[in-house]
Amino acid sequence: MKFFVDTAEIDAIAELNDLGMVDGVTTNPSLILKSGRDIIEVTKEICALVDGPVSAEVVATDADTMLEEGKKLAGLAENIAVKVPLTWAGLKTCKALSDQGTMVNVTLCFSANQALLAAKAGATFISPFIGRLDDLNLDGLDLIADIRTIYDNYGFDTNILAASIRSANHMSECAKIGADVATAPPKVIHAMANHVLTDKGLDQFVKDAKEAGIKIV
Ligand code: E4P
Repeated sequence: MKFFVDTAEIDAIAELNDLGMVDGVTTNPSLILKSGRDIIEVTKEICALVDGPVSAEVVATDADTMLEEGKKLAGLAENIAVKVPLTWAGLKTCKALSDQGTMVNVTLCFSANQALLAAKAGATFISPFIGRLDDLNLDGLDLIADIRTIYDNYGFDTNILAASIRSANHMSECAKIGADVATAPPKVIHAMANHVLTDKGLDQFVKDAKEAGIKIV
């Protein structure tokens, strides 16, 4: 499973990128707001830092303006994936951009039917939102599994990009289901390294090493 980082914070992306943990980046208007940066400037910076796809989201809601915005974003760098919402206008924009060879990430997906439409419209990525479904007491992981089944049944090559990830458990469950990509905030990727037994075992080893007077360097 590929890891995308769900942030527009350059330092956090750079740290994970240096460790080989970054196969791409996703942003959205809320993440741009949080970064306090200009969308064009920060997107260019992220694209220069990371080799993989960098999703940058349109803000218009009508197809004509979305297409214009999408073309501008796609012109920023070779590795841009234009992010469009899963509305009828977004699907139209997806088809037009993907026909021109631009990568498209269709976002705000909450149902298997929506994912089916995005694949038909030529999406490179479909972004089902796990956490926001869980917030409503629905099962976001079930949606990932349903989309996996449907895409495999018909050989769609749209990548399932599990989004709205809130926990390390979401990451391992997505990997088990077979999501192509998961996009997670930096803190979730860091949390994947944690285990209470690792901490406990290390405390004991450190204690015993001191007692044994072990010195290696
Ligand atoms: C990424 O592409 C999505 O915009 C993001 O994962 C949404 O996450 P949230 O539901 O935590 O805002």
